[in-house]
Parts: sequence; structure tokens; C-alpha cells
Amino acid sequence: MAAKLNAKGQEHQAEMYYPNQSIKDNANVKDYDELYKRSIEDREGFWAEEAEKLDWFQKWDKVLDDSEKPFYKWFTGGKINIVHNAIDRHLQTWRRNKLALIWEGEPGDVATYSYHALDREVSKFANVLKSMGVRKGEIVTIYMPQVPELMIAMLACAKIGAAHSVVYGGFSVEALAERIQDAQSRVLVTADGGWRRGKIVDLKKIANEAIGRSATIEVCITVQRTGQEVYMENDRDFWYHELMNLPIANAKCATEEMDAEDMLFILYTSGTTGRPKGVLHTHGGYSVYTATTHRYVFDIKEEDRWWCAADPGWITGHSYIVYAPLINGATVMMYEGAPNHPYPNRWWQMIEKYGISILYTSPTAIRGLMRFGDQWPRRHDLSSLRLLGSVGEPINPEAWRWYYKVVGNERCPIMDTWWQTETGGFVITPLPVTPLKPGSATKPFFGHEVAVVDDDGNEVKTGEEGKLVLKGPWPGMARTIYGDPERYKEVYWKDYEKQGWYKAGDSARIDEDGYVWIIGRIDDVIKVSGYRLGTAEVESALVSHADVSEAATIALPHELKGNAIHAYVILRAGLSGNKELEAALKDHVGKEIGPIARPETVTFVESLPKTRSGKIMRRVLKARAMGVDEGDLSTLEE
Ligand code: WTA
Repeated sequence: MAAKLNAKGQEHQAEMYYPNQSIKDNANVKDYDELYKRSIEDREGFWAEEAEKLDWFQKWDKVLDDSEKPFYKWFTGGKINIVHNAIDRHLQTWRRNKLALIWEGEPGDVATYSYHALDREVSKFANVLKSMGVRKGEIVTIYMPQVPELMIAMLACAKIGAAHSVVYGGFSVEALAERIQDAQSRVLVTADGGWRRGKIVDLKKIANEAIGRSATIEVCITVQRTGQEVYMENDRDFWYHELMNLPIANAKCATEEMDAEDMLFILYTSGTTGRPKGVLHTHGGYSVYTATTHRYVFDIKEEDRWWCAADPGWITGHSYIVYAPLINGATVMMYEGAPNHPYPNRWWQMIEKYGISILYTSPTAIRGLMRFGDQWPRRHDLSSLRLLGSVGEPINPEAWRWYYKVVGNERCPIMDTWWQTETGGFVITPLPVTPLKPGSATKPFFGHEVAVVDDDGNEVKTGEEGKLVLKGPWPGMARTIYGDPERYKEVYWKDYEKQGWYKAGDSARIDEDGYVWIIGRIDDVIKVSGYRLGTAEVESALVSHADVSEAATIALPHELKGNAIHAYVILRAGLSGNKELEAALKDHVGKEIGPIARPETVTFVESLPKTRSGKIMRRVLKARAMGVDEGDLSTLEE
């Protein structure tokens, strides 16, 4: 594998890894180019054929309705429910007794559910929700650790036609309160706590505070996970296990027939303003898109044991822990806690113990585990692994090679999947048969045309950096931002309105082989350990502290986390910064948003670089911090 330098001196582009014969022989798609060509020439035909693989209560009239661009609709006239596809239809086959879920808690407790058992739990909880007055179209907020009840609660909502809004269990009071408020949720499902690195995360305590800050919650259902004492309010708070033991929790519950375009969930994600956006997905298109991408990219087979080591509280968990694998009838692995607790072999131990065949995780996790050395994975029999996956941020070639060599023993291709909350599922990704270049997400999935362009929409030259756009609609695309369709248009579609392209918000380049290399975000979104945060969210948490008058945050490269947040703060008049205040501000952000948002450093400054119109020039702060050229400063105010 001779390293060849291209014009820009990027040597790793010449490094290629080819799949072995058994991967090729077993691949669900043997010829990418052929199917890709078909999917572009007849996009609707391609998606219709994929949609036929699901169960519909009523077939669609139209595959794609583009009469109200950019508000595309898919499979209009069709009736479906994602839960019917993820559970009900399997009950008619031998899959009824197949394991749907293997779950391990951080302390080592284990629970397993067959499809039959999962159906019973989901139906019971669906009936509980109904008894609490939950109706079709209503949004239930779920704030939980990674326990089976999280999956059960999501499926129970979808089954009865309610939408869920899952708030990541690592978020804190303000983040949760804001999301409850925006969704106007009446019902909150949470847990007394969860386990993380041997410690309890106090979810119920945070939930109680958040309920206090948002006026809409009438009912809070709490799963008992840790058994610690928590405050429960009469008439508002109920224990999950008590409700599930009442006669009302009948194990039979009809699955609601939904319009293809009915809301399945909203998931809040960070954007360029302080207010998080509720990205909305629907029953029909999302079912088709997630199931198809999962089946083709990870070559799902009946005997697979699939482990997506994300948190169900983010899109990766929604699409690829819960919905796609269950639709495809796979056995899903879910683990509650930290990868290195109690020892750095925790994951490898579970792969061996459960015979996991596909592991899908983030570059941050890989880098974190790599740091502990080869001896930890080497000590375990990882021969059950067939494929590996990566998501959330660009994977550096060094981590890629370690993952490939030490974890996959040079047998398992790595599916580096680029996608977003808004895309619902994979967009740029290899298939198992794709020759791989470490660090490149390779090529567009079926039905997608992607390009790297300048501000006017002209394609940049091969190998040059530009903005990533997706040229056409796909079934898994977000339908809108909940309650704010204008913002949906503005954020994703306005820049390339003439062409009708979707702006991803990432910069990328495409090399001479047509391989896409994602560089990173070009807006004010920061990816910390693969988690998506907004500079504005962190800034507004900082200014909510009594001592702070103004704040700016930027992302700087970090060896493990990919990026880390650095804050610049102007204090109120008369105050001066010191070590204690720096620590207090970090804690404050942790308490308001969550530990992942804690700034790496807080620097006290007298002023911030601004444009004449008063916008903070974060790019100038970043250039200064990195010691590089500050670029065009003509708009900078003195
Ligand atoms: C980044 C996560 C490089 C990207 C599924 C995108 C990636 C943002 C990759 C979306 C990848 C995701 N390589 N970058 N394989 N996957 N990203 O909404 O910047 O949490 O825009 O969705 O993550 O983050 P989100």
C-alpha cells in the first residue's frame, strides 16, 4: 500500500482496503455502481421497491409529492405504523421467539426480550399511556438512561400514534425544560437515575427541576432503576412498575393506523441559534429509509447480533438502535454505561460474551479505547465480528487503522457513515463491498446525489474544500422543524433555493476517485465527542450566570473528543476573573445543559471581536487561539 502524495500532500488518500471474498459473497448488494445508477435514474421506482418490503395497511398513491417544496412528502395516501413493522409483523413468524433485545446494565445486570416479550411490554405501556389520556398527535417527552424501558416507551408512543421527544439523559435542567416547553408535553417519562462510571446520574432530580421551569407537565412516570430515594409528588408522579402491574396495563393493544406523513417523533438538535430545533420525522418515509440503509450498509442477516453503541437519546440511537434493526428483525444489543467501566475491556468482554457480529460506534469512543492499548481487545475473542461502523464526526486515519487492525483483525470492513439528525439515516457511506480509504465516508447511498460547491452553487475543483449539498429529496429527510417551518426553509434550503439543494452545514472535499471526505461543520454547531451542541446554547448558559455579561464560544481540535469547547467571557462591571470563577462557570454550564457542554477553558476578556453590526466574530477568536492567519478583518469593528 504505497503512500502516494497528491498535490495537497494528503498521503492517506492513496491507501485502500478491499473486502475479502466472504464479505463479497455474502453482501446484500454485490454491485454498488449498478444499483446506484438505477436509483438515480429512477429514484421513485427505487424507493417504491424498497417500500414494498414493509407492511402497509394501505398502499400509497404517490411515492413523492414535491408540490410544496421544500416540504416534500413521501408515500402519500399510504397507511402504516412503524411499530407494526418493527414488532407486530414479526409475531406472525418464527421471529416471535427470536431475541429482539439483549440489554446489559453497567453494574452487570442483564435483561433479554424476545419479539413476543417486547410486544407485551410495549402494549402494556401503550395502554398505560392511553389511561393517562395520551392521544394521537400528542408529544410525550422521554428522559431516561439507556435501559430497555426507554425503547419500550418510544415504541409505545408510536404504537398509539403519539409522537415522542426523547431528550438525551446526559442533558440537564435547562436543556430538558426548554424541550418540554417547546413540545408542550403533558406527559414525561423518566427514571429515578441511571448508572455511569459507577455513579448515579440523578435523572429524577433534574426532571423535577425541569418540570418546575416548564408549565405543561401534568403526569410524570418514573422507572425505578437505581432504587435511590427521589421526590415524588402526589397526583403528578407515578412509578412505572406500579402502573405496569395494574389491570389497565393489558398486554394487548391495537396498533394505530397512521398516515405515512403523520409525525413519528421530534428530536431536538442544536443549530446556529440558542433555541434547539425540533427535527420532525414521520412514520412512512422514515421507516423505509432507516430499514433500507441499515439492511444494505450493514448487510443485515437473520443471525446477526447488532450493537449500535450510541445513546437512544440521539438520532443514531433512534434510527439504528430502535427502529431500523427491529424493522429488519435483528437482535439488538444495548448497554447502559461507560465503555471503560470497571475496566477498559468492558466492550470487548460483551462482544465476546454475546457474540456480537456488528459494532457501530463513534470515533471518540474508538480513540478513547485505543488509548488503553492493544492488550485490552487482544485479550478477548472478537472473532464473531463481521462488520464495524463509525459515525458522528470524521474518523482520523490513525483511529481507523487501529479499529480495523486490532478490533476487526483486518477482516471487518468499516462503514464510516455520514449523516445527520435531519437526514434520518445514512447518506454518504460505504457498503461492505466498497474499497475503503481510512477517513473517507466514501460515496453516496442509493438515491442520493451529493456535491461540494461554493456559495454560488458551482462545484469546486476535485480535491478542493467546499460546502456539502444533497441534490434531491429522500424518504428519511426531516419534514420540518416542529412549530417553525420558516426556520426549516431558512436553515437548510435558502442558500441553494434556486437549485433546490439541501445544505448540510458541513464542509467537505471529493477526491479524484469520487470519494467524499468530510471536514467538519461550517456553522456554529460544535461536535464534542460526536455529540452535537450549539455555540449559542453554551453562550446563553454562560450569560445566565449572574457574573457574566457577555460570552463567546468556539471549538478547538481535541485529541480525544474531536473538538472541545472554549469560552471567552466578559464579566459584569467591577468583577474580575479568577480560578474559582472559572470553575464555577464550567459547573454552571454543566448544570444547565449537561456535562458534555462544559467548556474546556474559560478565558476572561475585556472585549470580544465583533462586526460593525454587533455579531461576534468567532472565526477571529478561533484563528487567534490556533495562532493562524485571522483572514479578512474588514468587517471587524475597532
Ligand atoms: C457530523 C449524527 C464525519 C457532521 C448522525 C454532521 C460526521 C453532524 C459523520 C450531524 C461522519 C456525522 N464523518 N462527520 N461519518 N457523521 N458527522 O445530527 O458534521 O448529531 O453534520 O447526527 O455530525 O450530527 P447529528
